[in-house]
Amino acid sequence: MPDARPCADAYGAHARAHPAVHAFCDTVEQILRTTPADEVPDRVAEALAPVLATEGLLCDELREPGAATYRKHVLFACPEKHFTLVAIVWQPGQGTDIHGHTAWGAVGVYEGHPNVACYACEEVEGGRHIARETKNIHCAPGDTATVRPGLCDTHRIYNESDDVVITLHTYGLDLVADPDAINIHLTLAS
Ligand SMILES: [Fe+2]
Repeated sequence: MPDARPCADAYGAHARAHPAVHAFCDTVEQILRTTPADEVPDRVAEALAPVLATEGLLCDELREPGAATYRKHVLFACPEKHFTLVAIVWQPGQGTDIHGHTAWGAVGVYEGHPNVACYACEEVEGGRHIARETKNIHCAPGDTATVRPGLCDTHRIYNESDDVVITLHTYGLDLVADPDAINIHLTLAS
């Protein structure tokens, strides 16, 4: 399970967020106002690229890892609750389970080399699923990807390197009250 501690005290930008975070979130708000919904993830992923290239983006507080599992830090929570920007810190050996998302997402690698495994899902009896790995991508800083809601982009992210990984995730959902609200957890058939 991910670190379940509340990840933001208030809406808006984290008090120590870099100016590049503010600029990116302004851009996302503009994209959401002006772009057809099905084009939003790709446009947000494009806007994420310069943020991923910004040196010193995260202060020490926002780079803190979790001891038992990966750690989420909210960098910005949209006051209108349209989206949330989260940095996730992955220590070596940490990763997610196989999951889908409840809303669109645009994700990028800020630091390190995570793996992303993609799955084709089939529902079987009892609401359980069979997940067959279709692709495994060894990512590098600057790489971006988009995720559609539901189980069509089921995946797993993990850090099998010897170094810390930091990824940035923009989700079309408010995650202040419940950081795990974005995830659809699967019960896998054995
Ligand atoms: Fe995910």
